[in-house]
Amino acid sequence: LHEFASVAVRVCKDDAYGPADEETDMTHRVALGIDIGGSGIKGAPVDLVEGRFLQERMKIETPQPSTPQAVAAVVGQIAEQFIDDLPADAPIGITIPGVVQHGVVRSAANIDPSWLDCPGQDLFSEALGRPCLLVNDADAAGVGELRYGAAKGRDGLVVLTTLGTGIGIALLYNGVLIPNAELGHLELNGHDAESQAAASVRRRDDLSFEEWATERLQPYYAHLEFLLWPDLFVVGGGVSRKSEKFLPLLKLRTPIIPATLENAAGIIGAASLTARSARILRSTSTSAALRPCM
Ligand code: BGC
Repeated sequence: LHEFASVAVRVCKDDAYGPADEETDMTHRVALGIDIGGSGIKGAPVDLVEGRFLQERMKIETPQPSTPQAVAAVVGQIAEQFIDDLPADAPIGITIPGVVQHGVVRSAANIDPSWLDCPGQDLFSEALGRPCLLVNDADAAGVGELRYGAAKGRDGLVVLTTLGTGIGIALLYNGVLIPNAELGHLELNGHDAESQAAASVRRRDDLSFEEWATERLQPYYAHLEFLLWPDLFVVGGGVSRKSEKFLPLLKLRTPIIPATLENAAGIIGAASLTARSARILRSTSTSAALRPCM
C-alpha cells in the first residue's frame, strides 16, 4: 500500500455531505467502502452509479481490544484485498460507530475508549496511503439509503435509525446530511435509549419481537417523532431484514419503512460520500496529530 502517495489527504466533509452533484460525483465511478463495527470490519468496492458491491464483501473479526492501531491494521488488510482493482486515485470511505468531527473521533460508546480524540481520518489516510474519509456509521448508512435505497427521492426530513448493538441516527433534510445526530442516546424512562431499545437489547433481555416493539421501540420512536416531526423514518441495521415482525406494531403518525440496503448501507454510503474527488483537499501530514491514538 505504501507505494501510493504518502501525503495525508483530507476530504472536505462539509462539501461531501451536501446534495448529490452529478458532475463531481461521477469523477470516480468506483470507491472502496469499509465499515468498522463492534464484531466485524467489512469492506467492498462499490459501483457508485448502481450503488452496489462490485465484488463480494470481505469481513474480518474486529480485533480486541479494538484500538486505533489494531483496527487500522485490519482496515489495511481489507484495502489490500481490493486495491489492485481500484483506480490509482480512488478514495476510501470508512465508517466508525462514534461521532466524527472534522476527521477526529469524539465519542466511543461501543468501541475502544482509546479512539476518543483520535484523528482517525489522518491515521487511516497515512496507513493506507490514499485519501480516506472517516464518517459516523449511521450517517454513512443514511446517505447510502438516500442515494440508492429506501429514502431515494424523498424530500423533507428523513430520519434513518440503525438498530444494532447501539442505536445510530442519520438526519437527512432535502438530501443533505446533518452529521453526528446522536439521538440514540436520548433519555428514555430515565435511561440511555440505546440501552433500552437497541436490537442487542432484545436479545439481552430475551424479549419477543412484540414485546420489543410495543414496550421499547414504540416509546422511543414516539419521542423522536415528538421532537423532530420527520416526514419519514427508515429503519436499518441487520434486524431490518425482519421488519415485518415489528414495524407493523408501531403506532406513529410518521410513515416508517425498512431500509433496503440492509447491512450494505454503511459500506455503500461511505464509498459514495468519499467519492467527490473534485472537493478533496490535499494537505501535508501532521504526524504530531497522530500521536494521541498511537
Ligand atoms: C454511537 C453512534 C453510532 C451508533 C450505532 C452509538 O452508540 O454513539 O455514534 O452511530 O451507536 O453504531
